[in-house]
Amino acid sequence: MHKFLVLTLLLSFLAACQATYCEDCLNSGNHYCADTKLCNSPVCLNSITHIINCPRAPNATYDDNEARTKWLPLFGASATNPTMAQKCFDNNWPTMKLSKYILVNCSDPSPILPLTTCAMITAVDTTQKILVMSFRATNTGTQLEEEILNYFVAKKAFFDSGYIFEFFYDAYVALWNGGLSAEMRNLKYKYPDYEVWVTGHSLGAALASVGASWIVKAGLFKPEHIKVLTAGQPRTGDYAYSLWHQNTFAYSFRIVHAHDIVPHVPFQYELVDHDKMYHHRTEIWYNNDMSVGSPYHVCQEADGFYCSNQNADLSWNDHTHYYNTDLDGYGNKGCPKAN
Ligand SMILES: *[C@@H]1O[C@H](CO)[C@@H](O)[C@H](O)[C@H]1NC(C)=O
Ligand SMILES: *[C@@H]1O[C@H](CO)[C@@H](O)[C@H](O)[C@H]1NC(C)=O
Repeated sequence: MHKFLVLTLLLSFLAACQATYCEDCLNSGNHYCADTKLCNSPVCLNSITHIINCPRAPNATYDDNEARTKWLPLFGASATNPTMAQKCFDNNWPTMKLSKYILVNCSDPSPILPLTTCAMITAVDTTQKILVMSFRATNTGTQLEEEILNYFVAKKAFFDSGYIFEFFYDAYVALWNGGLSAEMRNLKYKYPDYEVWVTGHSLGAALASVGASWIVKAGLFKPEHIKVLTAGQPRTGDYAYSLWHQNTFAYSFRIVHAHDIVPHVPFQYELVDHDKMYHHRTEIWYNNDMSVGSPYHVCQEADGFYCSNQNADLSWNDHTHYYNTDLDGYGNKGCPKAN
């Protein structure tokens, strides 16, 4: 056998052992040290106390080129009208066809805030056998305020797997009942063996996490047939939700651009009910402008003091720019190619 192959196999075997060792260490009531890779290391800078953060490589391979040429236009297409959404596909992924545009009222019942809407698209590529659910980002400042207010208000149980924020839950259910449920059942019936790609930016990223999880919980699609890729995702649910998500989806990537503020809200340690919020794996962190060829970190921990959590100075501008593209107006221009 080739030496390199032997080495690769050996390294991945050791990595798998390491993850198990960390879990066993935590299960026995100790802490695991990410620096020394030992259980209960007396001196430890990065001590891991939650299984969700036991260091390991993702189960799938992140593809930077695919992200910028396919996923980016998918989340661009969710942020515009149906005509320009199809234009996004024509410009970047010609075999992809818009199937449905869903727009619903997703206002919080709170009387102090005006009407807000949530939107998404579904699409089908019969050549590559892919179905798409892509969720729109926050489109008004009001909606963002509403989300933030909600962070301190309530969570709802996500089936039997923890809790997610009420605003995300309600917004998702509004879309699901507003046409998404019927649409996905219809697509599943017509294309039973297709992959499902689920995506979104910002609020859309949280809804993508919920959406992928929902179609599994609803028994519609198997997680092995689903790919999730989000950009600038806020913390969406609690520890149990995130652990379930990462134990369920082999292919789920959470892209974080440098100092983007949104992945840091709401805080992991809540002031109000101390119900700790966590991100699920796998964070892909670009600590640069994300232009073509930029390096990135494939993060080993779900939501530890690692990767983007090391940044204390946070930026809104980094939130609106992904893959060196200003997402504000990108969809409305029909997702022009970068070069
Ligand atoms: C939007 O939803 C809110 C909360 O459910 C409701 O109070 C309001 O009447 C709805 N507005 C419209 C136009 O449907
Ligand atoms: C990821 O890989 C690990 C180690 O091989 C395995 O135990 C786990 O079930 C996999 N997770 C998913 C979601 O496929």
